Amino acid sequence: MEQLISLCKRRGFVFQASEIYGGLAGFWDYGPLGVELANNLKKEWWNAMVQDHENIFGIDGAIIQNPKLWEASGHVAGFTDPLVEDLVTNKRYRADHLAGVDSNDVDELNRLLEGKKSPDGNPLGPVRTFNMMMKTFIGPIEDTDSIAYLRPETAGSIFVNYKNVQETMRAKLPFGVAQVGKAFRNEISPRDFIFRVRELEQMEMQYFIRSIDQEAAYEQWRAFAWNFLKDRLGIAESNLQWHEHAEDERAHYAAAAHDVYFNFPQGFKELWGTHNRTDYDLSSHMRVSGQDLQYFDEETKERFTPYIIESSVGVGRMLLAVLTNAYHEETMDGETRVVLKLKPSLAPYKACVSPLLKNKPELVEKARTVFIALKKKFGMVMWDDNGNIGKRYRRQDEIGTPFCIVIDFDTLGENPDLLDTVTVRDRDTGTQERVAIKDLKQYIEEKM
Ligand code: GAP
Repeated sequence: MEQLISLCKRRGFVFQASEIYGGLAGFWDYGPLGVELANNLKKEWWNAMVQDHENIFGIDGAIIQNPKLWEASGHVAGFTDPLVEDLVTNKRYRADHLAGVDSNDVDELNRLLEGKKSPDGNPLGPVRTFNMMMKTFIGPIEDTDSIAYLRPETAGSIFVNYKNVQETMRAKLPFGVAQVGKAFRNEISPRDFIFRVRELEQMEMQYFIRSIDQEAAYEQWRAFAWNFLKDRLGIAESNLQWHEHAEDERAHYAAAAHDVYFNFPQGFKELWGTHNRTDYDLSSHMRVSGQDLQYFDEETKERFTPYIIESSVGVGRMLLAVLTNAYHEETMDGETRVVLKLKPSLAPYKACVSPLLKNKPELVEKARTVFIALKKKFGMVMWDDNGNIGKRYRRQDEIGTPFCIVIDFDTLGENPDLLDTVTVRDRDTGTQERVAIKDLKQYIEEKM
């Protein structure tokens, strides 16, 4: 984890939020490379989830909704974590973490923690539940009537827009509504870098179905999560595991839940959840809002409340998984190198272009024309003429750039057979190929 954190800071993937003021626990900023990688992950997900399915539609809901939404969803009453306090330092801890169990059961946790000390060696108070929703106030008066919540999950605005999407898109069951956006959780103990944070981004999809299709849809979206991680992100299957939630571990809305666990630096932990939310959400919203959210089947003339299968994953957690999976330290040409073996489609920079020597104007001029043409085509292409070629390769290896292109004297015709060709070095193998400038775009595109 320390090596990853150091790489992220050194190369501009992730910075501590408000670093110059000492940071703020649970908040992180994405730097120039981090935002590219995160955007690539979101693009892959949106493409696989929304654009590849004719029955899944996207929305972008507001972060703050009517607080009644969170009463109906059960978050005001039930979105809690068990908390325990060090009676000397007043530091607060997740009781389940201290007890070493996946449980929200206060009685069980009190039993398990009886006689135990805090990490600072002090006595602990009783286990209490703590609501994790972040609060704010709407308007100029800060009283109980103006309390609003920053959404703790993006799913909320999907449920309350279910009818709008169904009607405007003339959607028939089964259909899904997807969203990517920020969510906020007042986590008691944010930890493990960007793994558990207080401001997170989620990619969620709610799949509206007939109750009879629960099992098939649940399996469909479990398989989607696993295959996306394996095929779209190139994550090794040996780094993935299934974890089925026991009853006392499940969220208040879920009748069944399976997580894909990833082998993070701190061990196998939750990456992506698939939940059977039954008709819990739509029924609750109908009850509290008084609106009819039932589905009317035009063919059978049946009217009923759809069930929901949910697919939910955090962008930051996915980014941490992708970086962990890609991070390698190895020896190449007698030197130790750090290399991010990212899929080229995910890499922040697709290629780096260099003149062999920066003090030879004819090399620089030719290299600039190659650089400009590739940048126009692929966007994220880097120019680097600093230091020797070996150092430039190491710099690109560290950020996962799949191709390093060098313009040398042969490019200019010193060897007439090689006129207008460049060397392309492969990040993973270190091998170099001679490629004609006119074929470069296609060469990179094919490898991507
Ligand atoms: N709508 C369902 C839902 O929010 P969840 O299991 O609480 O379910 C879904 O969260 C996913 O969001 C998790 O699998 C994880 O990837 C991400 N996530 C949740 N809490 C997080 C946190 N505090 N920091 C980073 N990611 C988080």
